[in-house]
Amino acid sequence: MSAAGPSAALESIVNLSDLADFATPISIGVVAGLGVADHLAHGARHVADLAQATGSDATALLRVLSALSTRGIFEDVGESRFALTPLSDLLRTDHPQSLRHVCLMLSADVEAWAAFEHSILTGEAAFGHVHRLGFWEYLESNPEAGGLFDRSMEAMTRLELLALVDSYEWGELGTVVDVGGGNGAFLAGLLARYPALRGVLVDAPHVAQRAAAVLEQAGVHTRCEIVPQNFFDSVPGNADTYVLKRIIYSWGDEAAIRILRTVRAAIGDHDGRVLVIEPVLRKGNIFDVSRRLDLQMLVLGQGRVRNRDALRQIFSAAGLTLRRVIPTPLIAILEGRPAAEPS
Ligand SMILES: C[S@@+](CC[C@H](N)C(=O)[O-])C[C@H]1O[C@@H](n2cnc3c(N)ncnc32)[C@H](O)[C@@H]1O
Repeated sequence: MSAAGPSAALESIVNLSDLADFATPISIGVVAGLGVADHLAHGARHVADLAQATGSDATALLRVLSALSTRGIFEDVGESRFALTPLSDLLRTDHPQSLRHVCLMLSADVEAWAAFEHSILTGEAAFGHVHRLGFWEYLESNPEAGGLFDRSMEAMTRLELLALVDSYEWGELGTVVDVGGGNGAFLAGLLARYPALRGVLVDAPHVAQRAAAVLEQAGVHTRCEIVPQNFFDSVPGNADTYVLKRIIYSWGDEAAIRILRTVRAAIGDHDGRVLVIEPVLRKGNIFDVSRRLDLQMLVLGQGRVRNRDALRQIFSAAGLTLRRVIPTPLIAILEGRPAAEPS
């Protein structure tokens, strides 16, 4: 028993049990997948209606919605009727900041997490151990999982855009190359906000092909070129700005330096800049999104979330100088410029 007495011990038991719970995240993922929140958009409904609308078993659905209501994710309004709360409102597909696709669980991810011990014992990716494929190869060979991943990145990008569009002098730039820009959601938001800006989206061919529709829907396709390309080989040259959002942390040091060297080579003698946009580990005993993401990188591949000094070294090894770090509430912008040649 803890020296602090029985009530402190009980509190520790409750806290640890809560932290060790995986019933809640999996339940959120399942109800997000079933679209329960969409069916509650116009008000509270009886669980029998919800079960019919989602093709679920009414008794099982009642149990999961009752459990999630105890955590504030739905509201149990009595007589087996449930309503949205501010949390489940974010699970609606058409919410402007919808997190539905972020909360859906990719079963391949869950299977990899179940083998997390392998990562801790060996330092290797549990994902590759379980699926015998790297994460990016897996997404390429499973279009459904790939599309889901793109949509979760798009949802995160929608949130990040709120913080990023006003945190940098985008309007003064001519052309932005988004290296590994996914389905184009970031460029779509940026170009819509800055009408003089031009964009170039670079991603693997099977992902880049999904960008045309996103750019067209945002009405910016005439100002944005799509270049299907492996960013380890080359990226288009002579642009003012190269953005790498959520790219560098996905790779180990050697690969991260190779990607940045490709970008450095593309800048050539042009007055270009590189903006690495990703979470940065903070000093101190802080558990935040960057720590969670760091563990996710350990499960998925060779990547890691780095602190500012580690990122400075990666920039330097690629021939770039880290000039500025601009924190935003969600993610940081790290601005690099070509390093001065040693004299
Ligand atoms: C974590 S996602 C980030 C997407 C986007 N930048 C964002 O912030 O939403 C990484 C992106 O890198 C792309 N990618 C991975 N390997 C690549 C490669 N060798 N060449 C080009 N793109 C690649 C993936 O397809 C994916 O779109």
